[in-house]
Amino acid sequence: TPVRRETFNSRRLFIFSAIGSAVGLGNIWRFPYVAYENGGGAFLIPYLCALLTAGIPLLFFDYAIGHKFRGSAPLAFRRLARPAETLGWWQVLVCFVIAVYYAVIIAWSSMYTIFSFTKAWGDDPEKFFMGDFLKRSDDVTVSMDFVPGIVIPLIIVWLVTIGIMVAGVGKGIARANAIFLPLLVVMFVILVVQSLFLPGAVDGLNAFFTPSWEALGNPAVWAAAYGHIFFSLSVGFGIMVTYSSYLKRKTDLTGSGLVVGFANSAFEILAGIGVFAAIGFMAHASGTAVADQATGGIGLAFIAFPAIVSEAPAGQLIGVLFFGSLVFAGITSLISILEVIVAAVQDKLGAGRTFATMVVTIPMAIISIVLFPTTTGLYVLDTVDAFVNQFGIVAGALVAVIVVLWIYRKLPALRDHVNRISSFKLGGFWYVLAGVVSPIVLAYMLITEVIAKSSESYSGYPAWFNGVFGWGMSAALIVFAVLLSFIPWSANSKLNNDPEFDAIRD
Ligand code: PHE
Ligand code: NA
Repeated sequence: TPVRRETFNSRRLFIFSAIGSAVGLGNIWRFPYVAYENGGGAFLIPYLCALLTAGIPLLFFDYAIGHKFRGSAPLAFRRLARPAETLGWWQVLVCFVIAVYYAVIIAWSSMYTIFSFTKAWGDDPEKFFMGDFLKRSDDVTVSMDFVPGIVIPLIIVWLVTIGIMVAGVGKGIARANAIFLPLLVVMFVILVVQSLFLPGAVDGLNAFFTPSWEALGNPAVWAAAYGHIFFSLSVGFGIMVTYSSYLKRKTDLTGSGLVVGFANSAFEILAGIGVFAAIGFMAHASGTAVADQATGGIGLAFIAFPAIVSEAPAGQLIGVLFFGSLVFAGITSLISILEVIVAAVQDKLGAGRTFATMVVTIPMAIISIVLFPTTTGLYVLDTVDAFVNQFGIVAGALVAVIVVLWIYRKLPALRDHVNRISSFKLGGFWYVLAGVVSPIVLAYMLITEVIAKSSESYSGYPAWFNGVFGWGMSAALIVFAVLLSFIPWSANSKLNNDPEFDAIRD
């Protein structure tokens, strides 16, 4: 007998899990700096435009595909049209690549949660991070010198995550999100309130919110807003396709999407306030300008924040809350990316939960442990991240929209499916936003990015290095996506044997 498809037991659990996926490192360390760099308070205008004209319409698009075709990305796209299966595997492979390094950042963050108690970085957080902690080599190459202080927490991150995945959608994913997401919100709110009381916080907020209106005339600012929204809402990766395939048949899709979209944005704006209050404090404490302290990404989390923890009153608490938030925000996102892959393998083989989870996660954990906790792992992570985000996600979303809406003209069918069960009805405006505005913006982003990456070596790394981990990795994803879509579906697979779907297909 075929394995029954798992479900989220309530709409609330689905919403929690979808928000858990959306709220990730991007909200905490990426948004504040992107907003600050691109016009400060004025950035909210392109940001809201991007959210309403592309982010939420594509979120509805992902939900509609996953829910109507009730499958992982390869199965849902295959049911939509035979050749589209390749697109599903492309999204699965993008998730594969992201997951192997995302786990590494969670491992670093868990170590820094512990380091916060003793302020282990002493008075030079940068030297500590690059030297004592990462033991980073000066040569940009691939070494097999492992750093035990990272290997061990990374193994623990994988074990915990595998434990959640094996337990399944209801008992694992939904339950983990039901615990971690509220915990994350409570911790983060305490962190933000505490940061607002630091001396100098107001200067940070002024720097963050002061609008530079001339930024609105700059196309790069608009591209940054759209790029951030796609990443932040996790659209175009297969994540929302997969999660919505576990929803009961009669679920308000658009109502849920609006909750998820606005919750994600609320969290990032809160993060902007907290992060810039803390940066304002640092400027105040060191007698420098806020502009000199403002950074994002790894530099913000592992260099600037430790300095804040060292200087601030009750700094240890700030550190534990900040790094703990990164861990919880990261784990709930990691689970969602892994589920894209596990679900795809489950559907294609008609396999059970445990088998599919092990076949997927054990090789991934091994790749993650071999490539990243080494003296050169930071370089690999940096290149892989830059290429997979700019090309993988953007190209995946662009091709999906073109194939589904323009080649196979499924918009009316998707709209009817959504409108039958949802509170917020989709009309002609959705066609224009999902079908015209979004692909134009995505194509613009893809083209400018290809030009930028081919005209100068990414991050100044050697050409062979970016060739292997950037261009080579991207090309390998295309080849593997095609190969995987030619592997026949097993007789037991959901494509060939799914009485539940046959009973409800419309
Ligand atoms: N939406 C996530 C964020 O803002 C990004 C993400 C989700 C990345 C899931 C990978 C996997 O951080
Ligand atoms: Na996000």
